[in-house]
Amino acid sequence: MTQAPPQTPIPTRTRVLGEPLDRVDGHVKTTGAAQFSAEYPYPDLAYAALVYATIPRGRIKSLDTSAARATPGVLAVITHENAPRMKPPPKPSFLNLATLASGTSVNYLNTDEVHWNGQPVAVTVADSLEAAHEAARLVRVTYESQPAAVDFARAEPTAKPQKNNALIQGGGSKGDADAALAAAEVSVDLRFTTPMHHHNALEPHATTAVWQGDKLTVHDGSQNIDWTRRQLAHRFGMNLNDIRVVARFVGGGFGGKGNIWAGTILAVLAARVVERPVRLMLTREGVYRTVGGRTPSTQRVALGTDRDGQLTALIHTSVTQLGHVGGIEEQVVSQSRHLYDAEHILVQQSQVTIAALSTASMRAPGEAIGSFALEAAVDELAYRLDLDPIEFRMRNEPDRNPLDGKLFARRGLRDAYAVGAKRFRWQDRTPEPRSMRDGRWLVGMGVATAFHPAWRFPANLTVRLSADGTVLVRCAFHEMGMGAATAFGQVTAHALGVPFDAVHIEYGDSELPVGPGAGGSAQTASVTSSLLEAAAQLKRDLRKLADRAHLSPAEPPTTILRAAGRDQLTATVGSDTRFGQVTGQLRFLTRFIRDRRRYVKAACGAHFCEVRVDPDTGEVRVTRWLGVFDIGTVVNAKTAASQLRGGIVMGMGAALGEETLVDRETGRIVNANLAEYHVPVHADVPRIDIQCLGDPDPTMPLGVLGAGEVGIVGVAGAIANAVHHATGRRIYDLPITVDKLL
Ligand code: MOS
Repeated sequence: MTQAPPQTPIPTRTRVLGEPLDRVDGHVKTTGAAQFSAEYPYPDLAYAALVYATIPRGRIKSLDTSAARATPGVLAVITHENAPRMKPPPKPSFLNLATLASGTSVNYLNTDEVHWNGQPVAVTVADSLEAAHEAARLVRVTYESQPAAVDFARAEPTAKPQKNNALIQGGGSKGDADAALAAAEVSVDLRFTTPMHHHNALEPHATTAVWQGDKLTVHDGSQNIDWTRRQLAHRFGMNLNDIRVVARFVGGGFGGKGNIWAGTILAVLAARVVERPVRLMLTREGVYRTVGGRTPSTQRVALGTDRDGQLTALIHTSVTQLGHVGGIEEQVVSQSRHLYDAEHILVQQSQVTIAALSTASMRAPGEAIGSFALEAAVDELAYRLDLDPIEFRMRNEPDRNPLDGKLFARRGLRDAYAVGAKRFRWQDRTPEPRSMRDGRWLVGMGVATAFHPAWRFPANLTVRLSADGTVLVRCAFHEMGMGAATAFGQVTAHALGVPFDAVHIEYGDSELPVGPGAGGSAQTASVTSSLLEAAAQLKRDLRKLADRAHLSPAEPPTTILRAAGRDQLTATVGSDTRFGQVTGQLRFLTRFIRDRRRYVKAACGAHFCEVRVDPDTGEVRVTRWLGVFDIGTVVNAKTAASQLRGGIVMGMGAALGEETLVDRETGRIVNANLAEYHVPVHADVPRIDIQCLGDPDPTMPLGVLGAGEVGIVGVAGAIANAVHHATGRRIYDLPITVDKLL
């Protein structure tokens, strides 16, 4: 795939699917030529900065903007006293998924109410970034505070059980788990806690908003162009077609760019006020204040078995957090529905609602933190039984979905553990805790299971085959660094039997047919499905043309097109709006849900890790890692492995460093920066060995299950288990920091 398609493409590869091809956008990114949302030049560009509320709940009593307005270069100071009116966010409804995308229910700067500590209460706009920030510093706000519950831990007793709906289940049960637990011969009953987390994408959220009359162009690093466009149309009372959203490159999202947060809305508002293009780049602190992070959690995992280690009881419950202004009910107990064959199961999620910013999806939401608890509990139980933790898992590996007897579309866990144990030399492990050493270091080895559901969303696209041999794919999907454009070039080349270099792809722009959001590890399967449909259409049409021209349909497409006197042939899947309309979405979802009633579709895998712990300082180093995964068909061996590796690094962050600290009295995030919020750096990450089993999933397009998030799931559990093996200490509270090990 190239920027300028060759005129006479020569087949360079016989096999393109699965090949570890380099990213097609690698060159523009490494040279800095790729334009991100904050890099589009506009003459007359103005810069905006935010002022954040410093109380968790109450009203703005007074505002003094005189000093801010007097700052040289300042064009406007916008507050609830002078902001143009906007419509409040739409009421969230599963009948129109785009309505779920409002980050919060707040109509920013259209109200004097404050709902969380950090809510934007003013926007300054200036000729320069520096002047905008200086002015923001000078805005004086006084508040009338109201009492507010801001502390998750204290609010825990107020948790309410989550109800089930068509898409998401809050709980489920089989048999009588409490009675089975009480009667079990061997059991554990454990409580786990995980802290709040923040996404910390390399590219902080940024929006460049440009009005031309009543038309609006927005460069916004979004994971969901369509939802951003719909949200803006709603808030500003516009027609969809008058708004263009461009997100050609996104510098990481991890769920933090799937909703529409204050920065996007306020950049558009500010541009309307100053009648100039406006750029609003959130500072790192601004991201913490205005973009929701991952909920903290408390979890109970109780397991009971017979003497042989056959599970009889499995209980997994969780409490997570919502804000009064919104939030996500994370699927914390998700794996406990699928992983272990217990006769009696009870899973239930509950939530508390406090005066905090909405919680949001983040890096395998729910599964990442839920698997920490489940996999650590399983490890502890295996010790009670004096069983190898892999052997325990194999004894409890189900043939059908444990909770409801549904079929698994496929399940490679047995293979993943068998292959992994050999490759990692699991047999070298002596089970006794504190029994392995390397010099002064205590050495530990741990395993855990990865599991992530496979989803699929509607994707409209067009594929155009030209007589010069080139192929053009147009689809508004998202390239956040995962290699999407490269993978879809490979799928297209494979499906049409054309060289990879002949395929050109346009993406990341709402002018293109509406694509899927990049989330839920679903983008690859979603777009692949429509690419296959388009390729089948093109092949049918080519056969007809070949017939008419008395040619064999086996002739190259270029020959057939030329003989038929055609310059090009186009296949359209959906239309610009078919899957965007409420009815189209509903039809698609209904089909998908029906399919999911029959099958559990999921990617899965086995993590093997080795840690070294300093017995004197409690320092934990991860020294070896192997992940063996069943992600169905591998479209690109290099980018898939990178996705899985990235997931493992994120899991290492959750296990050993990441923790958003919230002041228990004021609800203020106190470590809103990368100096005090610890994500892994290169020195923390060992060589990560990845193996994919590679068999296609029979129920997904081209057999693709998705690789985006499964790598994260189980990582914290594997590390906690390895730390226990090394030290004899089991840590139930993330992150596993030195103070907890001393
Ligand atoms: Mo995600 S947490 O599905 O970007």
